[in-house]
Amino acid sequence: MTPTTATALVLTLTLAHYASLAAAAGPRVIIVGAGMSGISAGKRLSEAGITDLVILEATDHIGGRMHKTNFGGINVEMGANWVEGVNGGKMNPIWPIVNATLKLRNFRSDFDGLADNIYKEKGGVYDKEYAQKRIDRSDEVEENGGKLSAKLHPSGQDDMSILAMQRLNDHLPNGPTSPLDMILDYFKYDYEFAEPPRVTSLQNVVPLATFEDFGDDVYFVADQRGYEAVVYYLAGQYLKADKSGNIVDPRLQLSKVVREISYSRSGVTVKTEDNKVYKADYVMVSTSVGVLQSDLIQFKPQLPNWKVLSIYQFDMAVYTKIFVKFPKKFWPEGKGREFFLYASSRRGYYGVWQEFEAQYPDANVLLVTVTDEESRRIEQQSDNQTKAEIVEVLRDMFPGADVPDATDILVPRWWSDRFYRGTFSNWPIGVNRYEYDQLRAPVGRVYFTGEHTSEHYNGYVHGAYLAGIDSADILINCAQKKMCKYHVPGKYE
Ligand SMILES: Cc1cc2nc3c(=O)[nH]c(=O)nc-3n(C[C@H](O)[C@H](O)[C@H](O)COP(=O)(O)OP(=O)(O)OC[C@H]3O[C@@H](n4cnc5c(N)ncnc54)[C@H](O)[C@@H]3O)c2cc1C
Ligand SMILES: *[C@@H]1O[C@H](CO)[C@@H](O)[C@H](O)[C@H]1NC(C)=O
Ligand SMILES: *[C@@H]1O[C@H](CO)[C@@H](O)[C@H](O)[C@H]1NC(C)=O
Repeated sequence: MTPTTATALVLTLTLAHYASLAAAAGPRVIIVGAGMSGISAGKRLSEAGITDLVILEATDHIGGRMHKTNFGGINVEMGANWVEGVNGGKMNPIWPIVNATLKLRNFRSDFDGLADNIYKEKGGVYDKEYAQKRIDRSDEVEENGGKLSAKLHPSGQDDMSILAMQRLNDHLPNGPTSPLDMILDYFKYDYEFAEPPRVTSLQNVVPLATFEDFGDDVYFVADQRGYEAVVYYLAGQYLKADKSGNIVDPRLQLSKVVREISYSRSGVTVKTEDNKVYKADYVMVSTSVGVLQSDLIQFKPQLPNWKVLSIYQFDMAVYTKIFVKFPKKFWPEGKGREFFLYASSRRGYYGVWQEFEAQYPDANVLLVTVTDEESRRIEQQSDNQTKAEIVEVLRDMFPGADVPDATDILVPRWWSDRFYRGTFSNWPIGVNRYEYDQLRAPVGRVYFTGEHTSEHYNGYVHGAYLAGIDSADILINCAQKKMCKYHVPGKYE
């Protein structure tokens, strides 16, 4: 035996000895963030017997991007609102919790009547038959895109933007350009992915795994307990809760803003803004990819290059749900009227509207959704300014109606919020499968979860839930089975 192997052997024995001691007590795991993925990861770890957890959450509540707020007397969702992907071949794991276990009030969204509800820039609706023709054409282009997408090399080396695919079909250098075609395009892509077709990857988005696997239907959750009730329900499976469902477990620490994560071969040290220090065997980071792109959390040593590149190449998109309240209704209601579009010559300008006759009867509330550049613009101006713009648009849409001033407005600011930096991830052109998988890959004792690490469903509630399970399993394999190697091929492998 050479001296080197002897030393190596002693070292291995010592490590094994420590490992067995640690196993006796169970490893300690710090989870950063108590949104859907962090809570889901904690549940999985608990089920595997890893119960020595510390969950550090920056805000004063759990749920993260699933968050209700009171608006003019009703609770509305500032973040996630729909269970997306229902009535398909596989069961969306969120659906039975929402519809069967918790029985959250929910409504299937019906977009079939859209051709009847597209408003011209200066009022009145488009001819229904003509609008339907344009909808059919945009569906046809999307279908062609799906066929093309299926033929592209699985590595992603031939991936293209959705816009490039549209050009191949319609020979329009800038994509759809008439106000009607622009709003239909916006509704199909931006309203789902919160970034324009110029940015979004064709291969990873058309067809979309969420709808392929779980079904095309989406159900709007309108329950006064909030969509976040799902997160509270999962948390309550392993964290102590009081009678009213509040989590009172000392392992959940609220208002703890993590600023520094140090990691070495022997453990991790996490520091919070209030100068508290937490030590553990592993850390699971569940913050959004937007937060990872900011300088909120400092890693010591710095994360390796491959990890940094995967983080900075992915996109954190912005999707803003603006709720406005009126003293009375002046918009049409009834079957097929729930969703309506405004075809501005400025693409994405207060384009997609929803009325709530069924969900919040008599609340006189409308929801208008904007994304990307409009979101960032609106986050930076006063709510009064936004309210004035919205009322002006509505007066243009309904020139014959008496449109009163809005009495109240709710403008969520997810992009300006340092704990989110946007609303959900979007897969941009130029990131291949391997680089994406690197977002999920651990770095030593630092593990990663969050919707942006979901194998197939990034951007969604079910993606966050499943990512929590998957990332916990990677940690469990290391902590309990000593299978700590997690191989991710390089970009060109
Ligand atoms: C406006 C909007 C609309 C959406 N619509 C839908 C929808 O209809 N359907 C759907 O399926 N999905 C939707 N989504 C996406 C869905 O909400 C998310 O994918 C999911 O909730 C993300 O969960 P997460 O655990 O990955 O992240 P998060 O919910 O962001 O959880 C991370 C947690 O970490 C905390 N944190 C951040 N920084 C720190 C720090 N330094 N220290 C400690 N804690 C920190 C945050 O406060 C947060 O609680 C929407 C999201 C938004 C914002
Ligand atoms: C949701 O639950 C209700 C009540 O149990 C049931 O009737 C309905 O079929 C469920 N919806 C779906 C889409 O599964
Ligand atoms: C918004 O406008 C209302 C009435 O026009 C005014 O009372 C209020 O102070 C304004 N708020 C802000 C933040 O400017």
